[in-house]
Amino acid sequence: MSLGSDNHSSVHPKIMQALMSANTGKAPSYGTDPLSNEAVEIFKSHFGEKTNVFFVFNGTAANTIAIKALLKPYQSVLCSDVAHLNWDEGGAPEAIAGTKLVLVKSEDGKVTIPELEKHMIRLGDQHFMQPGVLSITQPTELGTLYTLKELHELIAWAKSKNLKTHIDGARYVHTSTRLGVDFKKLGQDLGVDIISFGGTKNGLMFGEALLCFDKDLATDLKYLRKQFLQLPSKSRYLAAQFKAFFKDGLWAEMANHSYKMAQALHDGLKNIEGVTIMHPSECNAVFAQFPKQWIKPLKKHSFFYVWDQHTWTVRLMTGFDTEPSEIESFINKVTELSNNKE
Ligand SMILES: Cc1ncc(COP(=O)(O)O)c(C=O)c1O
Repeated sequence: MSLGSDNHSSVHPKIMQALMSANTGKAPSYGTDPLSNEAVEIFKSHFGEKTNVFFVFNGTAANTIAIKALLKPYQSVLCSDVAHLNWDEGGAPEAIAGTKLVLVKSEDGKVTIPELEKHMIRLGDQHFMQPGVLSITQPTELGTLYTLKELHELIAWAKSKNLKTHIDGARYVHTSTRLGVDFKKLGQDLGVDIISFGGTKNGLMFGEALLCFDKDLATDLKYLRKQFLQLPSKSRYLAAQFKAFFKDGLWAEMANHSYKMAQALHDGLKNIEGVTIMHPSECNAVFAQFPKQWIKPLKKHSFFYVWDQHTWTVRLMTGFDTEPSEIESFINKVTELSNNKE
């Protein structure tokens, strides 16, 4: 069993079936095949007609290429102090986009305008890397969500400071299901420049889409994706997965299920003596603090990551394929440890 990550989930059978169905005969390459054209149209129908779509293989590449497209060589990126961009991308944004990440103090993973303002300093100073991009993670690395109003406020603030905007949306599906807002309001209408839209963490075998709402930037992305090694030749296989993902609301079904499982986990853990819930659980993750001596036996029962070794906070994550019995059994194990006081 694993509560380690939604990356530990299998591929949804309907997506696997779509891959099998795409696997017949020949098809043109590099995004020119009928399935790729169809998938692009599907994205446009959800996110708005002005959406430019670029499929890539993984989230780190999506983020790095987006940032590369948005920055001038002397500009930095403002992101939260828990951003995946900073902690878990192996320095790719710095190495490949050639930038500096400026970490902004966050609360439950969310940045605020007053904290961002503190970094709008030394503007015009040739000795200082100039802020160029605001990158927001939605949902955040700590499983929380910005509201639609908060997203609008952050983007409006960024624009007022001449910053470009990027959303790391590895799990962006939850923004729509949890906030009850359609993708158009979260896409073209939001005013953001580029979204890294995740598929892998919500049922795909692999594949993310860069969604770009600006024509000139889209031209840059076309060349940057190739230059940074992410132009898929057999693009039909990425497209087929996204086509199945959007068919009959499969994406929402998967996101809702993983959310429901996380809620069950959260509700089952919250009143157990010895457990502290660390952040609101607003998508498919629960951050909990356990006594250190529980970690080993619990990990034997179900794999998970220790998020913070100083506080023994762990991240428990569900996926579209998490079974209610897995959650129940994990809660039982935690209860057993809590009752065993010696
Ligand atoms: C918030 C967030 N952004 C980006 C990524 C990067 O995705 P990948 O591992 O596909 O490069 C992850 C992966 O876990 C993530 O959680």
